[in-house]
Amino acid sequence: MKGIVLAGGTGSRLFPLTKITNKHLLPIYDKPMVYYPIQTLVDAGITDIMLVTGGRNSGDFLRLLGNGKEFGLKHLNYTYQEGEGGIAEALALAEHFADGQPICVILGDNLIEGNIRESVEQFRKQGRGARIFLKEVHDAQRFGVAELAGDRIVGIEEKPAHPKSNYAVTGIYLYDATVFDKCRVLKPSHRGELEITDVNNAYVREGSMSFSVLDGWWTDAGTFDSLLRAANLVARKRTSSAATD
Ligand code: DAU
Repeated sequence: MKGIVLAGGTGSRLFPLTKITNKHLLPIYDKPMVYYPIQTLVDAGITDIMLVTGGRNSGDFLRLLGNGKEFGLKHLNYTYQEGEGGIAEALALAEHFADGQPICVILGDNLIEGNIRESVEQFRKQGRGARIFLKEVHDAQRFGVAELAGDRIVGIEEKPAHPKSNYAVTGIYLYDATVFDKCRVLKPSHRGELEITDVNNAYVREGSMSFSVLDGWWTDAGTFDSLLRAANLVARKRTSSAATD
């Protein structure tokens, strides 16, 4: 399985922090933001990774990460998104890298406490379709939200005013190779972006979407509040693991 970290976009919600640097290079406690999603992939045993970035500071990723030696990687792949046409547009740029293999996609501003290795294994066994990760939240309006019927997802709404559940769709997605066909037929949403939620709904319609509920905490870091929350969660995790050493 190959891994793809999406770190494009402008980070406009964090302006002026993002006026002279890329959102994913901002610090979360003791590391730049982009370190965390890369580590999540590596912890899941995924070491063939591409980073999609964009904007004016994309060269800084190369200076920061090089070939991923700090993560124990031999090589890291990069590609560039012009503009900010949405998460699915950024993902589509990784088609040649994926080369027909299943992929694990993670948003560059998503941090988790736990390990997704088991779910990645389950997806390998599933063999086709998609698997996403849900997390119960109190502010579901901020996210893609799953509508559930028993143990099935029957639909996903992007930032609904009246969410049909408290289960946010987190920014970690497992896809088979048909994801790129699904990206190709997308139309821009009202916010002018190719939405990952539309890709996920294509799998839901096909009946090939499964899910896991994430253990431990999950947060994005794309707003002032969630950036602070992410730093505090990481700090607490470090302190508690230092106490048990
Ligand atoms: O964090 C989870 C949420 O992420 C999901 O629940 C939503 O369904 C999903 O749409 C997304 O929502 P956001 O509005 O928070 O996404 P945002 O525009 O902040 O982008 C998240 C990351 O995706 C960003 O850190 C980098 C990457 N991205 C985004 C855009 C718009 C790109 O690589 N290129 C882009 O053009």
